[in-house]
Amino acid sequence: MANVDIRTNILNIELKNPTILASGIMGVSGSSCVYAARNGAGAVIPKSIGPSERQGHSNPIITQFESGFLNAVGLPNAGVDSSLDEIRFAMDNAGVHVFPSFFGGTKEEFGLVAEKISALNPPLMEVNLSCPNTADDFGISFALSENDAHDVISIVKSRTKIPVIAKLAPNVPDIRRIARAVEEAGADAITAVNTMPGMIIDVKAAKPILYNKCGGISGPALKPVAVKCIYDVFESVNIPVIGVGGVKSGEDAAEMIMAGAVAVEIGSGIYYRGIDVFRKVSDELRMFMEENGYDKIKDMVGVAHK
Ligand SMILES: Cc1cc2nc3c(=O)[nH]c(=O)nc-3n(C[C@H](O)[C@H](O)[C@H](O)COP(=O)(O)O)c2cc1C
Repeated sequence: MANVDIRTNILNIELKNPTILASGIMGVSGSSCVYAARNGAGAVIPKSIGPSERQGHSNPIITQFESGFLNAVGLPNAGVDSSLDEIRFAMDNAGVHVFPSFFGGTKEEFGLVAEKISALNPPLMEVNLSCPNTADDFGISFALSENDAHDVISIVKSRTKIPVIAKLAPNVPDIRRIARAVEEAGADAITAVNTMPGMIIDVKAAKPILYNKCGGISGPALKPVAVKCIYDVFESVNIPVIGVGGVKSGEDAAEMIMAGAVAVEIGSGIYYRGIDVFRKVSDELRMFMEENGYDKIKDMVGVAHK
């Protein structure tokens, strides 16, 4: 094992291992980010924060099915002004990098929240483009349109000097177009992907299970979708890609890295394997690399393209 090095780099920011807590899974509290870090996460992303307080949806907000989870939490958060202390707490105590995540209901709100978070001087920020555009009749998310995604990233970049990661959605005709649009707008990295829309109906009640009716699929069911998105994004842009969707083992992480990811976020994996999923995935990844002749993460990044 001595030769295997699982450290990785995103834009010259070093992570002791490539596992990152995905946004939303552990809520907004700084202490839950610290908890994930103590259990082996190489970096942590708190739940997305927006311009003002939001209640989120009523229960039920999450349900499990054979191969994953369906959630419609509705982005509950205290609003950026009240959330900065929690993020600061995480930054001071996690012992690993904290990348705040944020959203807006309008393009301008993304810029406003970005500017406020920048006061904390985080190394990176993740832009959650998968939230409803309140200026659109159907509330269609910014992640689904090249123009909207481009505009959001341009506005964010004009309001902050902190590097930004654009988090993309899988349910688009061609993710390569969205990836190119955000790269052109100045995104420094891309996360692929957020959840995939879905619905589960309780046939005895003859109604959708979630209060919101539909939600986002995460967990193993999302993994092949995410791997293809990472693969496609890797081929179309020159900025680093972070993978997310269904990772719960070292081999899952290796698969995403081979598709082109320099690091992997883990969310639902916590429900399957416990909070120390980060340590377990890192140990399994190290073993996989040892057994398969990879010394460094970068030797594995994108090898599936050759
Ligand atoms: C309960 C729950 C809440 C989430 N909240 C957010 C969020 O606030 N911001 C965000 O960008 N993604 C959010 N996500 C999406 C995850 O960050 C991740 O992209 C998705 O769950 C796929 O990864 P996984 O299969 O490892 O869970 C949430 C996912 C779940 C299950």
